[in-house]
Amino acid sequence: MLRLGEIGVPTHFVRRLNMREQLVREVEIIPLEVVVRNVAAGSLAQRFGLTEGTPLPRSVVEYYFKSHSLEDPMVSEEHITAFGWATPMDLDEIMSMALRINDFLSGLFIGIGLKLVDFRLEFGRLYNGDEFQIVLADEISPDNCRLWDVKTGERLDKDRFRRDLGNVEEAYQEVARRLGILPEGGPRDFQGPAIMQ
Ligand code: TMP
Repeated sequence: MLRLGEIGVPTHFVRRLNMREQLVREVEIIPLEVVVRNVAAGSLAQRFGLTEGTPLPRSVVEYYFKSHSLEDPMVSEEHITAFGWATPMDLDEIMSMALRINDFLSGLFIGIGLKLVDFRLEFGRLYNGDEFQIVLADEISPDNCRLWDVKTGERLDKDRFRRDLGNVEEAYQEVARRLGILPEGGPRDFQGPAIMQ
């Protein structure tokens, strides 16, 4: 989030409190899951009968309506604007931020030997009086990204859990280790949550 802030992508992030908690600004979440895909996998591969791992001709951005009871149905810009979830201007901003984030993250991950196959973002409105700014919210982690090892193709993301592949924790720790955010002594060295005033 901090690195994205540095390249001009506004986010809800204020600061990390410890390994488990972050201080973030309260935003009004836009009820959309914004999925960016670089390589066919998961539901896209299934929907179009593509072999998982097929590179896409260009990055594809999809929108899903955030509703657990409806199982997050895929929606078009028409649905989004007709139902008033976001305006065409909001969507332009969301799309351009999503693509910038994709460029940045793809580079970041390729630098540590991981292919960013796809990921899901959420955005929110940060109000200042009557005015608002759309900012990146929620989280970016192996829970909402597909990350494949460039050399071996090994999946280091939530698909290990979804597909019962085992070694979920080890995979997440490997991503953290490559990002340089795993403490020297391993996960046991993580500080627990601290009560903040
Ligand atoms: P999908 O292929 O299942 O549609 O998932 C695309 C990407 O979005 C993948 O990186 C996982 C992420 N995702 C979430 O974070 N939450 C969700 O509820 C879903 C369906 C996908």
